[in-house]
Amino acid sequence: MLLWRRNLKINHFSYSKGLSFPLLYLIIGFLVVLVLPLLIIYHVDQVNSSITTDFVAPELQHSKESVLLLHTFSGESVIYSPGVADLADLSDRALCSTTIQPDYSYLSRIKVSYSCSVGDVIGFELYSYLKMKMPGFSKESEFINQLILTSDYSNNPSISAETNSHIRLNQFATSREHPNSALLPAKGVNISPAFLPSVSPSLWNGEEALKNQTRRNIRFDESHHQTRWTAGSDGSFQLTMNYELATMSVQREASTWSSIKYRFIQYMAFFTVFAFVFDKLNDFLFQCGVFASFSKLEKINQFKKD
Ligand SMILES: *[C@@H]1O[C@H](CO)[C@@H](O)[C@H](O)[C@H]1NC(C)=O
Repeated sequence: MLLWRRNLKINHFSYSKGLSFPLLYLIIGFLVVLVLPLLIIYHVDQVNSSITTDFVAPELQHSKESVLLLHTFSGESVIYSPGVADLADLSDRALCSTTIQPDYSYLSRIKVSYSCSVGDVIGFELYSYLKMKMPGFSKESEFINQLILTSDYSNNPSISAETNSHIRLNQFATSREHPNSALLPAKGVNISPAFLPSVSPSLWNGEEALKNQTRRNIRFDESHHQTRWTAGSDGSFQLTMNYELATMSVQREASTWSSIKYRFIQYMAFFTVFAFVFDKLNDFLFQCGVFASFSKLEKINQFKKD
């Protein structure tokens, strides 16, 4: 046995001067297995440096502020805003009442109804201010007003419309150079007060309100809606809005510790795979007798047996 070991040693170091091919192979192999995962996760990190994605269920409340524009068959438009009478001239005001029915069993759903004494309605625009709350959206996790615009049109004069409006969080980067500006937690203008009709009735208009909302790069918007119109004509119009916030995936900045943890996990994942492949490759190469010293050793052993 000792002799066998000595033979192995002799073969490794005396066969060729300097580093033998198998030793060089092993050193390069180990370096590849250790360094390649680092290079890979470095390149992965270029894309998503410190982002974590998680699922959250935001909470929804109505701010009791909204502006409803009704368009009639004769081409007129009338305006209603609960509690803000002086938003429009007297001749442009619509006579309406509103009810808000929060669904206490389901915090991300709310129903708002408008009953108006306006006939022959063929379209509406509704600017609703809904208050949203979500972990990390604002630091203190307080409710923040978001403008949700819904509009729909019908071919026929109608007495009612019922709309399901789906709301989602949008995260837009301010520029290519600032990809992290799209990540939660929201800061600055993203959590600044909304341009509510009650605050400045003389200045409020749909265009300015939309500009104010879309200046935010992390905001809630309507993603889509469906409306069922009921045709008819009795001098009244009823609009029912069902707002719904689905559980959504959000992207936020990872804390330092969790990014270290993720990098370590990424490294170990690649390292394990490379180490496994390298190990199998070694087995295969030795079995095939690719390494001259090893086949020489076998020959010596055979010779000794004989
Ligand atoms: C929206 O308008 C309000 C009230 O004028 C203002 O305080 C706020 O900064 C504005 N937000 C943005 C994002 O422009």
